[in-house]
Amino acid sequence: MRRLRGLRGRFALALMGVSALTLAITAALLLIPLDRALRDDAVRTLAESARASRSTVRELPPSAYRADSRRLRRVLITIRRQTAADAAVYDARAALVVSTDVDDLARSPVAGRAIAAGSTVRFERAPGDDADEAAVATPFTVEDRRYVLVMHRSLNDLPAVQHVVRQALLVAAGIALLIALVVGLVLASRLVARVTALRDTALRVSDAGMVVEVRPDDARDEIGDLTRAFAAMQQQLRDQEDARRTFVATASHELRTPLASLLLMLHATSEDLADDPPDLDEARRQVGRALGQTERLTRLSATLLDLSRLDARLPLRAEPVELGELARSIVAEFPVELGVRLHAEDDLWCTADPGSVAQVVRVLVDNAALHGAAPIVVTAGAGPGRAVLTVEDGGPGVRADEAVRIFGRFERGNEAGDSGSGLGLAIGRELAVRMGGDLRLEPGGNGARFVLELPSTDVPT
Ligand SMILES: Nc1ncnc2c1ncn2[C@@H]1O[C@H](COP(=O)(O)OP(=O)(O)O)[C@@H](O)[C@H]1O
Ligand SMILES: [Mg+2]
Repeated sequence: MRRLRGLRGRFALALMGVSALTLAITAALLLIPLDRALRDDAVRTLAESARASRSTVRELPPSAYRADSRRLRRVLITIRRQTAADAAVYDARAALVVSTDVDDLARSPVAGRAIAAGSTVRFERAPGDDADEAAVATPFTVEDRRYVLVMHRSLNDLPAVQHVVRQALLVAAGIALLIALVVGLVLASRLVARVTALRDTALRVSDAGMVVEVRPDDARDEIGDLTRAFAAMQQQLRDQEDARRTFVATASHELRTPLASLLLMLHATSEDLADDPPDLDEARRQVGRALGQTERLTRLSATLLDLSRLDARLPLRAEPVELGELARSIVAEFPVELGVRLHAEDDLWCTADPGSVAQVVRVLVDNAALHGAAPIVVTAGAGPGRAVLTVEDGGPGVRADEAVRIFGRFERGNEAGDSGSGLGLAIGRELAVRMGGDLRLEPGGNGARFVLELPSTDVPT
């Protein structure tokens, strides 16, 4: 029962159903018109025979039209032999003269109709009647006396022809159904085997995890596509899993270092305070350092939160942002002593998420202050289809061999010390790319020169 409900059974049943339906329609289209055509044909042939026979009968002398005429009887018997139809002659009152069939009295109404009509009358009994027959009555005149030649034949042999056709159709149906069943089973078995293999792999993956290898199918069909999609999905999940593992490991390492020194500082402070007399100066210094570490930890945890938001792919806003105005407000956040200079074009509109743009600009100015030196210059201008913000400083710049690496997560320059998290540029570039722009380091200039590009937009009215 389960097999029948599976793909194999359904496939075979569907193919058989289609074959059966096709044959049933063929049978209906063939048998009904066949019956009609056979009957029409029989009546037409009979009418032709009657017309030909009438000429033969008419050649007899008038004296031959009597009930006891042996000549007339002989002619009619010859006609029957030649046409396989019974023949009878009726007079003008539709009374039987001579016949080859004993029952011919019964056909005098047909003869009467032919005399009344003055022309050939065809007659066919409905099938289902005991005597299923076709009759043709054709009037003729011999020396001013009118007679009718009636010819009739039984149609009882027609069902035999139909029977042969029906039988042939049934045999064809049987063979077609058998072929459909076999083809359905073979086709479905191959499909089912491939789907089952894929299911087994999926079950093994859910049991044993990503170590199970999904082998993509070579076939260029939908199931092949499915296995390839499955393998690609597995690879992506693996990559994500790797990235997550690295992230957790690095993040906990990054957190552990400042936490360990914080602990040491607090121990030292508590020892300084336990001294007799307490070493208040040293304790104050230690508390100052501990505060610094705590601030660093706070910044780091905020940055990690930013990163996890990015990884969760929370949607960014896409709205018109005036880049010059935004740069001005970020520059204003930094202490005046830093001397950050700003050159911004007016009406520099771009499509972006304002919070994210502010975050990137903050990272760049922060880095210039931390890793570079004065003068720090922020420029906002327009490029082709882009709004461009550049942050330059007069520091040592980025070493050529570090230019790519510093955009990686938790990557710090060799000269950078361990004050930062190494996440600023990584987050900045990812945000820029997700807003349809880019963040890159440009060679040339005195120190470092970072360029943020965003898609520009028309001035909103
Ligand atoms: N303006 C700059 N001048 C020189 N080096 C820079 C500058 N900005 C960034 N860097 C280098 O790029 C590295 C990565 O920067 P970032 O991702 O912001 O991490 P962090 O600032 O926490 O070290 C820095 O460690 C530094 O080596
Ligand atoms: Mg930084």
